[in-house]
Amino acid sequence: MGSPHWKRLCLLLLAGLTSSLLLYSHYRATVEAPTSQRIIANLLQPEALILAASGTPHGAGSHSWALGGSLESGNSFKPSAKLEEPEPSRKQPSPCLQSVMARAKADPKFREIFHFNTPVLMWDQHFTLETWNRLKTRHVPYGWQGLPLAVVGSTLQLLNSSANRHLFDRATFPGGCVRCAVVGNGGILNGSRQGKAIDSHDLVFRINGAVIKGFEEDVGTKVSFYGFTVNTMKNSLISYEEYGFTQVPQGKDLKYIFIPSDIRDYVMLKSAIQGTPVPEGSDKGDKPQKYFGPEASAEKFKLLHPDFLQYLTTRFLRSELLNTQYSSLYMPSTGALMLLTALHTCDQVSAYGFITDNYEQFSDHYFEVEKKPLVFYANHDMMLEAALWRSLHRAGIITLYQR
Ligand SMILES: *[C@@H]1O[C@H](CO)[C@@H](O)[C@H](O)[C@H]1NC(C)=O
Ligand SMILES: *[C@@H]1O[C@H](CO)[C@@H](O)[C@H](O)[C@H]1NC(C)=O
Repeated sequence: MGSPHWKRLCLLLLAGLTSSLLLYSHYRATVEAPTSQRIIANLLQPEALILAASGTPHGAGSHSWALGGSLESGNSFKPSAKLEEPEPSRKQPSPCLQSVMARAKADPKFREIFHFNTPVLMWDQHFTLETWNRLKTRHVPYGWQGLPLAVVGSTLQLLNSSANRHLFDRATFPGGCVRCAVVGNGGILNGSRQGKAIDSHDLVFRINGAVIKGFEEDVGTKVSFYGFTVNTMKNSLISYEEYGFTQVPQGKDLKYIFIPSDIRDYVMLKSAIQGTPVPEGSDKGDKPQKYFGPEASAEKFKLLHPDFLQYLTTRFLRSELLNTQYSSLYMPSTGALMLLTALHTCDQVSAYGFITDNYEQFSDHYFEVEKKPLVFYANHDMMLEAALWRSLHRAGIITLYQR
């Protein structure tokens, strides 16, 4: 990276830091103290929040632990001697021979990096005392440090449908390989005419400001998954409104993948499943239906597991930014997280609109009218992501669209 990048990086770091401080104080002012108490009080009344011992059905046996007591003195919680892990999300075997997994296992470098048993999604069964104690020591998005137990617990408790345990049901794709396209919003797609190729995949992932109207020939129309954080979703609605991103993609078969990067994501997810306005925090009063459509049910939503985010960051995208004092700002981009999610769930993965070696020839996004240079945000490491996509492409693990 040349020095102009670094100058910009520093400026952005400063800007990022200032806004996070502002946001944090806002958060403290609006969410923290009053909210957690209110929620705990609410939960205490109608139904106690149950922490099931791992592997056992909810509330079965004597291993349940009500929220009422103080967190540290969980005297009534007696974990069974042997804690079982919840069933992994990739429990359905794949009949596909030319798969990401097969190719990764055949590659000397990626064989060491991929751990296909890492859980991708999180659901109600994961909410155990063991998981709580482990994740409360790691900051978001890798854990739950500073998040009220009641908020996390009451959200996870709602993720109790079988659809919350896997991204898709393999039974609906009998026989062959499940082919996924992950569509980033890079300027390389402008004029690409890749719409038909994208839509020909079994499943299509889109992210953030995924403008479709007017760009059907270049980016297609199919949306199986929309991946986001509440922050990136709402920022996209503001920043890309002028380019036609006036609404988050909606549809009967469309599922939403929440990246839990902040308490906002847990709070919004809970409200979305319940179909009620957001009760507190920076999104207070927001109607989830405005974003996700009228259908509110657990089946519609997936939540990435903080352990999965930790695994992806340490094994695939361990940026040098993590060695600086700004390490807590760093996380892989939304696009990177969705592409890596697809790699851990689909059989074959094509990436469109992701950063390539010749990114300077293209605009930041495909929908811009005038060419804008790619913005390097301080909290992401796009050069590291570019190197990862290049090397996965060379290993035959993904097909990276390039031109
Ligand atoms: C999931 O939880 C909700 C709310 O607690 C409950 O109404 C529903 O029956 C549960 N669904 C399943 C499949 O257990
Ligand atoms: C996108 O493509 C069109 C047609 O090829 C071109 O006129 C336009 O300038 C491009 N936009 C950007 C931002 O490069």
